[in-house]
Amino acid sequence: MINLEQQNILNKLIANLNPMQIAWVSGYLAGTLANNTQINDVDNAKIKTIFDNFKDLTIIYITETGNSKFLANELTKKFKEQKINIKLKAVEQYRYSDFISEKNLLLITSTHGDGEVPESGKGFFDFIKNNQLDLTNLNFAIIALGDKNYPLFCKAGKDFAEVFVTKKAVSVIDNIELDLDFENHLASIFSQIFTNFQNKNSKQINDHKAIDPQVKSTLSNQFTGKIIANTNLNDDGSTKQTHHLEILSDQEIDYQSGDSLGILFDNEDLKITGKITPRLYSIASAKSQHGNEIHLCVGLVRYKDSLGQEIFGLFSNKLASLKINDSIKFYLSKNRQFKLPKEDRDIIMVGAGTGIAAFRSFLFERNATNASGKNWLFFGERNIRSDFLYQSELQDFLASNVLTKLTLAFSRDQEQKIYVQDRLQENAYEVYKWLENDSYFYVCGDKENMAKAVEQTLLNIIAKCGNKDSIQAKNYLDNLKEQGRYLLDVY
Ligand SMILES: Cc1cc2nc3c(=O)[nH]c(=O)nc-3n(C[C@H](O)[C@H](O)[C@H](O)COP(=O)(O)OP(=O)(O)OC[C@H]3O[C@@H](n4cnc5c(N)ncnc54)[C@H](O)[C@@H]3O)c2cc1C
Ligand SMILES: Cc1cc2nc3c(=O)[nH]c(=O)nc-3n(C[C@H](O)[C@H](O)[C@H](O)COP(=O)(O)O)c2cc1C
Repeated sequence: MINLEQQNILNKLIANLNPMQIAWVSGYLAGTLANNTQINDVDNAKIKTIFDNFKDLTIIYITETGNSKFLANELTKKFKEQKINIKLKAVEQYRYSDFISEKNLLLITSTHGDGEVPESGKGFFDFIKNNQLDLTNLNFAIIALGDKNYPLFCKAGKDFAEVFVTKKAVSVIDNIELDLDFENHLASIFSQIFTNFQNKNSKQINDHKAIDPQVKSTLSNQFTGKIIANTNLNDDGSTKQTHHLEILSDQEIDYQSGDSLGILFDNEDLKITGKITPRLYSIASAKSQHGNEIHLCVGLVRYKDSLGQEIFGLFSNKLASLKINDSIKFYLSKNRQFKLPKEDRDIIMVGAGTGIAAFRSFLFERNATNASGKNWLFFGERNIRSDFLYQSELQDFLASNVLTKLTLAFSRDQEQKIYVQDRLQENAYEVYKWLENDSYFYVCGDKENMAKAVEQTLLNIIAKCGNKDSIQAKNYLDNLKEQGRYLLDVY
């Protein structure tokens, strides 16, 4: 399309540009093309046919804390501006049977756990991997979201690319792997994906090499701070040790209730070798109330090794032992889903142990913003005398009507264990009434036992109070999830 001399000039120019400048030049050229009055109608028609072959794109996102969804929505807007028809789906809404007939696919996936595909995408991954699919007609691009602090950076994206390729799908561009600062690169991500799909879909330039991914991360999300408080919230005689930590950030930090803090310790701090995975802690303070102070509620983890010796959790032990004025390094891990609703909506919060952290933040936020929505907290721990975390604050919230209801479950204060799910069941009709009244339902804390039991109890409540069979109850809950009214921050 361009002659050798022109190509040489272009290559010389590109050699001196950084990725952001290349993205800018690409936009500049597109703009010049659109405005160029010297291009005659015949040329225009040719150019149009080349690029018009790229008309439809399916975008599937796989998310746990909402970043991939956010990115999918932003890119969808940009594609629509270019008159591309977009089919946008969360993976849990995507019909797998449609997959074989897709022509152009952009998959946006984060990585969770230890380099794993997020829970919602595991079925989709297995479907592709375990079925004999011929994806020869599929052009795909993958945007992988991750966090460079983790050893298996963007691994889920890599795994998807590998299975796509084994099924003969055609990659239009190498995986674009993005760190937590992905928002800063929206324009360049879009231009790379768009150009590569255009190239792949245009017959005349089909042989052209894909533009390699150019996004480089400049992580601006690392902070330092000082410990300004560290107290054990449990009283003498407790079987637990739960620390309330206050960190004063050296820099302005723009967090919201529902976000978590990623803690970073150096190897020397912990006396271990190899790359250390960061640990996340739900933020227990509210920006509107506490400014650049960040509060955490950290449970000291203990377990027995194979010789029966007691071992303390690496990070929780280190955090519990920090002294006033000690320095600490951290970063912000945003959760775009686990967020408070509009100020006039009611919320039900269910948490046990350190699961109280995010709800303490919610309550301070609702107080500071004078929110009119009602707030009902279910809180569980072992013993009322020693383990009622943030007791006086919660009672103050109750007295000032910020907390509409406080329902407590202390499992070990009587012979028969009572947990938060039992208290939910006891309050079945009222819980259901709140749900019918469009309230939001939040669960924070233990993933394995509590969150599962709470979900099962909620299904029972919906079935019993809404006169539904188990399938209808499940649909009701799925509906809540889809509306973003059933939200989890569990670990
Ligand atoms: C989104 C999110 C929010 C979170 N919020 C909070 C919060 O608000 N408060 C909070 O306290 N925690 C929270 N956590 C959990 C927290 O991140 C840590 O996982 C927790 O503090 C344990 O880390 P650790 O380094 O102390 O323990 P580790 O040293 O990592 O040990 C953790 C567990 O691994 C097992 N284990 C490790 N090594 C061995 C071994 N050799 N033998 C047997 N078992 C072993 C044990 O079961 C132990 O309980 C959150 C997690 C996530 C993902
Ligand atoms: C518990 C947990 C585990 C994570 N594990 C990894 C990992 O192994 N590799 C990685 O690159 N990122 C990891 N991340 C970072 C996420 O991929 C990153 O925050 C991403 O932006 C989340 O996108 P999402 O909101 O669409 O799920 C992890 C995050 C969390 C909360």
